[in-house]
Amino acid sequence: MEYSNILTEKKDSVFVITINRPEALNALNEDTVGKLEHAFDQGLADPGVRVIMITGQGNKAFVAGADINEINSLSSVKAAQDKSIRGIDILFKIEQCDKPVIMVINGYALGGGCELAMAGDIRIASDNAKFGLPEINLGIIPGYGGTQRLPRLVGIGMAKMMIFYGMTIDAQTALQIGLVEKVVPAGQLMEEAFSLANLLAQKPPVALAMAKRSINEGLEVDLKRGCAVESSNFAVACSTEDRREGTRAFLEKRKPQFKGY
Ligand code: COA
Repeated sequence: MEYSNILTEKKDSVFVITINRPEALNALNEDTVGKLEHAFDQGLADPGVRVIMITGQGNKAFVAGADINEINSLSSVKAAQDKSIRGIDILFKIEQCDKPVIMVINGYALGGGCELAMAGDIRIASDNAKFGLPEINLGIIPGYGGTQRLPRLVGIGMAKMMIFYGMTIDAQTALQIGLVEKVVPAGQLMEEAFSLANLLAQKPPVALAMAKRSINEGLEVDLKRGCAVESSNFAVACSTEDRREGTRAFLEKRKPQFKGY
């Protein structure tokens, strides 16, 4: 299904979701959040999709945050909490799904935009991208998991600097502190994102999913339990035909042809 504020496109096995509210710098209002989730579910459910990409329309913004008009008109504590929980749930869905998600950051990734980016597996940014959690300047704090994911990615000190001061940082700084994995010239962003996605699409999907689960779940528990999680997931990967194919191809000195099971 196609919406005006969320566009989707399937290119081979890569599913691209574009947040399309350029007139508001792709800010996430409730309607857009709902349709983003719907589009994401579509990508997850399609067995032909190996990788999901999320980006923003235009060359100015990925997502400039939650829609400030809606935050301004929040009428109760419950409404505020519901809004936060809804966003958090969707970002968990993105973070915890079994398909790799690449965030393609084409400009401002502020507030909810930065939080959305952090829920992805890999972040590639254009050299004009800017990042920050500026909520403090609106009298609030991040509500889509920003206070939790930012310190996990960049360390407590830098996270506190960014959140307390509402700092905006450029793409190179984001790369240095580990908030993004790759920065490329703006004109090459989509091409580079597709080459990352297409490489991932050739990897064995069950093993990728097990790697993703192991890393995500392992970070939430102590090392011993994390290693136990890894062992279970290793066993799942070993049960696949792709394990047989991958190891056989190595021994036969040829490129593996993974089947996805
Ligand atoms: N929510 C709602 N509308 C937003 C928005 C947001 N988060 N971010 C930008 N917009 C709207 C602006 O109100 C403006 O609308 P208008 O043309 O009807 O006035 C339009 O998008 C363009 O933004 P503008 O501020 O004019 O662009 P700019 O280039 O001068 O500044 C930013 C760009 C990103 C620095 C600035 O828009 C900004 O600070 N946005 C808010 C970021 C934020 O605090 N996010 C966290 C929200 S919780």
